Amino acid sequence: MTLLYMKVLVTGGLGFIGSHTVVELQNEGYEVVIIDDCSNSSENVLEGITSITEKTPLFEKIDLKEKNKVEDFFKRHHDIEGVIHFAASKAVGESVEKPLLYYENNIGTLVYILKELCNKNKASFIFSSSCTVYGQADKMPITESAPVKMAESPYGNTKQMGEEIIADTCKVTPSLNAIALRYFNPIGAHPSSQIGELPIGVPQNLVPFITQTGVGLREELSVFGDDYPTEDGTCVRDYIYVVDLAKAHVIALQRLMNGKNSNNYEVFNVGTGTGSTVLEVIQSFEKISDKKLNYKIVDRRPGDITSAYADTTKANEILGWKSQYTLDEAMKSAWDWEQKVRS
Ligand code: UD1
Repeated sequence: MTLLYMKVLVTGGLGFIGSHTVVELQNEGYEVVIIDDCSNSSENVLEGITSITEKTPLFEKIDLKEKNKVEDFFKRHHDIEGVIHFAASKAVGESVEKPLLYYENNIGTLVYILKELCNKNKASFIFSSSCTVYGQADKMPITESAPVKMAESPYGNTKQMGEEIIADTCKVTPSLNAIALRYFNPIGAHPSSQIGELPIGVPQNLVPFITQTGVGLREELSVFGDDYPTEDGTCVRDYIYVVDLAKAHVIALQRLMNGKNSNNYEVFNVGTGTGSTVLEVIQSFEKISDKKLNYKIVDRRPGDITSAYADTTKANEILGWKSQYTLDEAMKSAWDWEQKVRS
């Protein structure tokens, strides 16, 4: 069933995953309101969204740490039925340096939004969680019942605590229905090249570093370690195409809005189910770009885990969602986007 004219708030809707999700929501007929403080994104993203969907979402530049502004927003938009909450800080290293910034940004704002949703007769809430909650899991692929391991960083801790805060709130709030999506490694850009990932400064993540090296913005990629106990010695991750990931949010929201959920708090892995090594990602890039990538092997990066890839059975069978795109297709979209941004 397509739900028309339901109003959905997307916090962090100008960011990488947020903007792709806004596109998919608008394509499905939802009315979207974005809140973003533009601390790690740009208002220009609105133009990209508009050019893809031929519709401009409402946008309010609000810092969600300002509780009174959050309250005022929900008073003005009392007809919001669902919230997809992306707004958060996500740099692991920075979170170690500035833990309180991360707890305030990622936990404080979550609490303010949940408080507003608890005042409603019915509300649906989707939370951006991460496979980081599993740490180095004992078994691959990782199922949702794998134990949550002690967080390695304040960033990881905010995802674990965020999930617990939502679960505790749902327990005592039957009108609140929530799903936490545990993303594996989101990559790529919209096939139109109108929106994509725009890291500020030196990218910390593999794929933007590769494409920036490919385009000549970085001299060479450092591959962090080739002595891991994996097929070729480099780390294994589950790289999920951002448009596939965005669609998972819409399906999760529809599940809640249609009352199809079996519990008022549920958790799903969102990945492809396939692990790729760093060298395989580089090979994929070289194939789709027809370019040799300049890279060297360096020491391991502290805090990196050896391997993480998802068991996606739960999302496949219960959500009815499955990733559609291959690693090559996702890399191609990332490369097209990088070339467009630099042209
Ligand atoms: C990282 C975070 C994770 C967070 C995610 C958000 C760490 C330890 N983990 O995941 O908590 O949820 O980003 O996007 O920071 N690599 C290189 N060279 C590079 C960059 C990366 O070899 O220049 C390798 C890494 O060692 C890793 C793989 O590429 O094996 C993926 O790295 P990255 O994109 O940073 O993601 P994660 O570390 O999986």
